[in-house]
Amino acid sequence: MREYKIAAIPADGIGPEVIAAGLQALESLQQRSGDFKLNVKHFDWGSDYYKKTGRMMPEDGLEQLKPFDAIFFGAVGAPDIPDHITLWGLRLPICQGFDQYANVRPTRILPGISSPLAGVGPGDLDWVIVRENSEGEYAGQGGRTHRGLPEEVATEVSIFTRVGVTRIMRFAFKLAQSRPRKFLTVVTKSNAQRYGMVMWDEIAAEVAQEFPDVTWDRMLVDAMTVRMTLNPQSLDTIVATNLHADILSDLAGALAGSLGVAPTANIDPERRFPSMFEPIHGSAFDITGKGIANPVATFWTAAQMLDHLGEGAAATRLMRAVETVSAEGIMTPDVGGKATTQEVTDAVCEAIRISN
Ligand code: NAI
Ligand code: MG
Repeated sequence: MREYKIAAIPADGIGPEVIAAGLQALESLQQRSGDFKLNVKHFDWGSDYYKKTGRMMPEDGLEQLKPFDAIFFGAVGAPDIPDHITLWGLRLPICQGFDQYANVRPTRILPGISSPLAGVGPGDLDWVIVRENSEGEYAGQGGRTHRGLPEEVATEVSIFTRVGVTRIMRFAFKLAQSRPRKFLTVVTKSNAQRYGMVMWDEIAAEVAQEFPDVTWDRMLVDAMTVRMTLNPQSLDTIVATNLHADILSDLAGALAGSLGVAPTANIDPERRFPSMFEPIHGSAFDITGKGIANPVATFWTAAQMLDHLGEGAAATRLMRAVETVSAEGIMTPDVGGKATTQEVTDAVCEAIRISN
C-alpha cells in the first residue's frame, strides 16, 4: 500500500465546503483503487483563526507543513478582514516559503458545460497556463512613505531574476513538450516594459533551443486576451508572469464556463517542499453556506495532486468520473445546473465506484 501525508487547509468561505467534497471523492478513489492511502490531517487556519489569535496561521506554520507530501487548500478571504492580510497571512507565505514557483492552471470545456463563446465546445479550448509564482509583480517589494499626507508615495516593484525566469521557462517548455501539440505561447508586455519583459523574451529564446521539438510563439498580454476570446483553438500551453497569468487564468476559467471549475497547482518542481493544490476561486461570500458551491475545481485540483504524487491512474479515473457527471447535466447553478454541492459529489463518487 502506497501512503501519502496530506495537509488539508479548508480555511474560509466556501473553502470548507469544497474541500469536504474533494476529500469525499478522494476517499472513493482509495476504496476503488485499493492500492494507495491518503493520511489527511486538518488544519483550522484562516480568518477564524486570525480573529482568535491575530495570525492566519501559527508562527511555525511552515515547519508544521514541511513533513507532508502535499497541501490541499480551500480559499482565504473574509468580508471583515482586508484581503491583503488574509492572502499574505496564509496562502502567499506557503507559496513563497516552499518555493512553489510553478503555478499550473489547466482549462478545458468539460462535456455538458457551455462556454460563453458562441460555437466553441469541448476540444476547441484545451489550455494549460503556467504562471510564474515566486517573483514578478507579486514579489512583495515596495513600500509607502508619508502615509496619509498629500505627498504620500507608494511603490510596488516587479522583480524578475534570470534564475526565476529561466526555471519557469524550462518548466513551461517541458510541459508543452509533454502535450500532444508541443506548442507554447510566451506572454509578455515587452513593448511597454522594456527591462524585465525584454529579459523574459530573451530567456524564452535561449531556453527554446533546449527544446527543438517544441514550437513556440510570443504574444503581448493585451492582444492575448483577444486571441483567447476569438481564436481559442490556436492556443495550447501558455507561460506568463505572476500578474499577467493571474488575470489570463480568470479569463480562461470564465471562457470554460465558470470559475467554479478552474483548478490550480502550486508546484515545487524540485520536490524540496510539499506542493499545494487548490481551486482558483476565492471564498465566494455570496454563496457561502448555501450548499451550491461548485466542487469541480476542487476535484480537478485533487486530480492534479494525485498526478503529482505519482498516482496518475487514480487522477485519470477521477477526471473521467467528473466528465461523466457533467455530461449527464448533474451540475451546480454557476454552470447552469440545479444540483447542490453534495449531489454533484455523490454522483462523482458513484461514477468512481462503478468505473472500470
Ligand atoms: P471569488 O472567486 O470568491 O468569487 C467570484 C464569483 O465567482 C462569485 O460570484 C462567486 O459566487 C463565484 N464562484 C467562485 N467560486 C465558485 C464555486 N466554486 N462555485 C460557484 N460559484 C463560484 O472571488 P471574489 O468574490 O473576488 O473574492 C472573495 C474573497 O476571496 C476575497 O476575500 C478574495 O480576496 C478571496 N480570494 C481568495 C483566493 C484564494 O484563496 N486563492 C482567490 C481569489 C479570491
Ligand atoms: Mg486570481
